[in-house]
Amino acid sequence: MALADLSQVTTIDRIAFDIPWSLRTYQYEILESPYSHMVVMEKHTEHPAPAWWRWVPRILQRDLTEHQVLGYGGMWMISGSAHISTIAVHPDARGQGWGELLLLGMVRRAITLDAHEVTLEVRVSNDRAQNLYRKHGFETTSIKPHYYRNNDEDAYEMCLSIHRAESRARAESSFIRAMLQRGVTDTFSDSDLPPHLTEDGR
Ligand SMILES: CC(C)(COP(=O)(O)OP(=O)(O)OC[C@H]1O[C@@H](n2cnc3c(N)ncnc32)[C@H](O)[C@@H]1OP(=O)(O)O)[C@@H](O)C(=O)NCCC(=O)NCCS
Repeated sequence: MALADLSQVTTIDRIAFDIPWSLRTYQYEILESPYSHMVVMEKHTEHPAPAWWRWVPRILQRDLTEHQVLGYGGMWMISGSAHISTIAVHPDARGQGWGELLLLGMVRRAITLDAHEVTLEVRVSNDRAQNLYRKHGFETTSIKPHYYRNNDEDAYEMCLSIHRAESRARAESSFIRAMLQRGVTDTFSDSDLPPHLTEDGR
């Protein structure tokens, strides 16, 4: 996720969540937080250049590729534990496997960073998201009463253990299968740490 993605990301965020994050929060997560790993799933559409385009000086030429954000996610890596802080898919793109791919991409990132577990919180009423997490091996570990401040709703805390080699292998092969099925290129899960993370550590 880059600053240029934030207008699309915050638009999806406001639709997806009752308590959306502010623009400033996203800027902090991308540029400053020593714990955050933020990702977007983008669809790239190449627009063919019109005939007169070759007369435009190269220095003035803009990228004619359209970058459409289909979904995004965020993960905090703290003391060997990865915590999924957010995940959402644009309403028009839901039900097509993108949420699954985002989740598996973050789990793969956690494996790359040597995490022993991936945790998250989810509203007790959010069946869709719970199904997604259970499908990929997350289990409920506790209930956090009155966790959501807008309506006092409880949260389930869920956890996927990636301590054992078999569970890491299972998660990685699910990710690779999902990527191949959808012809997606991954530049996130084992990419270098952004500059502000390399000194502070994870
Ligand atoms: C949760 C969310 C990210 C899922 O993304 P998605 O792209 O629609 O999900 P996918 O198409 O990848 O579906 C993967 C699995 O999720 C579950 N799921 C998805 N949509 C579902 C629905 N309408 N009903 C029940 N389960 C559903 C299923 O287990 C599904 O697997 P299956 O297709 O084999 O049954 C998306 O619904 C969303 O953005 N919701 C709003 C934000 C949110 O609630 N985030 C989670 C916060 S904890």
